[in-house]
Amino acid sequence: MTALDLSSPVAVVGTGTMGQGIAQVALVAGHPVRLYDAVPGRAGAAADAIGARLDRLVEKERLTAVDRDAARARLRPAEDLAELADCVLVVEAVLERLEVKQELFRELEGIVGDDCLLATNTSSLSVTAIGGALARPGRFLGLHFFNPAPLLPLVEVVSGFATDVASATRAYETARAWGKTPVACADTPGFIVNRIARPFYAEAFEVYENQGADPATIDAVLRESGGFRMGAFELTDLIGQDVNESVTHSVWQSFFQDVRFTPSLAQRRLVESGRLGRKSGQGWYDYRDGAERPEPHTAEPAEPPAYVVAEGDLGPATELLALIREAGIEVREEDEDKGTRLVLPGGGQLVLADGQTSVEFRDVVYFDLALDYRKATRIALSAAQQTSPRTLAQSTGLFQALGKKVSVIGDVPGMIVARTVARIIDLAHDAVARGVATEEDIDTAMRLGVNYPLGPLEWSRRLGGDWACAVLDNLHECTPSGRYAPSLALYRHAYASDKREGSSS
Ligand SMILES: NC(=O)c1ccc[n+]([C@@H]2O[C@H](COP(=O)([O-])OP(=O)(O)OC[C@H]3O[C@@H](n4cnc5c(N)ncnc54)[C@H](O)[C@@H]3O)[C@@H](O)[C@H]2O)c1
Repeated sequence: MTALDLSSPVAVVGTGTMGQGIAQVALVAGHPVRLYDAVPGRAGAAADAIGARLDRLVEKERLTAVDRDAARARLRPAEDLAELADCVLVVEAVLERLEVKQELFRELEGIVGDDCLLATNTSSLSVTAIGGALARPGRFLGLHFFNPAPLLPLVEVVSGFATDVASATRAYETARAWGKTPVACADTPGFIVNRIARPFYAEAFEVYENQGADPATIDAVLRESGGFRMGAFELTDLIGQDVNESVTHSVWQSFFQDVRFTPSLAQRRLVESGRLGRKSGQGWYDYRDGAERPEPHTAEPAEPPAYVVAEGDLGPATELLALIREAGIEVREEDEDKGTRLVLPGGGQLVLADGQTSVEFRDVVYFDLALDYRKATRIALSAAQQTSPRTLAQSTGLFQALGKKVSVIGDVPGMIVARTVARIIDLAHDAVARGVATEEDIDTAMRLGVNYPLGPLEWSRRLGGDWACAVLDNLHECTPSGRYAPSLALYRHAYASDKREGSSS
């Protein structure tokens, strides 16, 4: 199955933010493009705006003047839907309302030819539901571009219940021919990215609502330890709190209020009070003139311990042993399987966040998961009320001796990075098991759609098969609402990995 012929016309209906971006992509790829909008004059204005963007590409030497002129000549605003009759693909990017989209496609079905692909760019509506209005829904599918469409490579190619394989494949190949990276996915709430990314925001807000740390500290830990490009608070301020919350709300509602997708009360208050982020001057942070950006909590310098005793297998934190030795601190290794921890002089323990709260232990400091302990520049530590100040000081000094900044947060089980990554991994395994997409496409979607440093399934493999399951099991025990209950898919994965590891040893 091949991509659509570049000489065939493509139409974009709805010429707002997304419509303009998608039209530009099809145009630059080489198609003649028709633009249609319900508001008279808007398609013409969109053509001018696209033309101005092409001019900027010429200025930046990313497009030649000859190609720009040819592209402009291929772009045509339409005054009537009937002018789209000879198009081979119509991409819809109108208002996010089911009845509006259904009505539009019903009308289009009477205008275009039988072979014309019909696609919606919906973010939150069901492709199957929109296609339900059509007499021939087999050629109808979702082409979910990300904003800004000309810059972001990812396109989710969504098959509804009635979409035929040939149409989905043709749309997939066409997106690829346009220079995009398509991923195939089933019609489920949030598709791939907006479904699996929910815990990235939700867990950060949950830690904040539990007084675990302030936004600046949580953001710094997500970036400098977790390897995420931006923290959840600064990212939602950029996206817009209203936009981000409405996606969360829609996914939660679409899953019949599944507790795993529960929206945040604190974010609700921001939206209700008009603190929408950068665009309104204030969100989690203050962007008004003269406002100071708050600093993350960073611990004062402390003395490192003279030695540590490493007990058991530190799993994802094993690299720390090499780093501690390189810092000139003695590591005494004990094989005894008493647990997986570093014991400090005086008997205090340093344990990788595992979803438990340190309140149950006598003298424990938890440290958070890092994407890469060598590259991480900050590590979060948490201690319970009964943890001795000496153990906390030694733990702080130890990480500082490795060149890390230390943020001390409250006793929140699963800390910041560990709970976030465990939940993202769980949703990814669950999505694979439910046939939403392949492992490879999920990893591609999360790296390209939301810039994650690793795809969640690759992350799961690196952390070890049962790591996320064990963290969530513990979190579920502390917070038995169901929010943290590992999915059956994650249990199966952990069990299978356990057996594999068991049989190889
Ligand atoms: N903005 C994003 O980040 C983003 C990302 C991915 C997908 N989407 C989806 O893309 C679609 C469009 O979003 P947007 O942000 O570009 O919206 P927008 O408000 O910027 O543009 C919508 C355009 O559609 C026009 N329109 C409305 N009803 C119409 C109709 N019946 N026929 C023709 N034109 C009509 C409007 O006049 C307007 O120009 C929505 O379905 C949205 O969920 C948005």
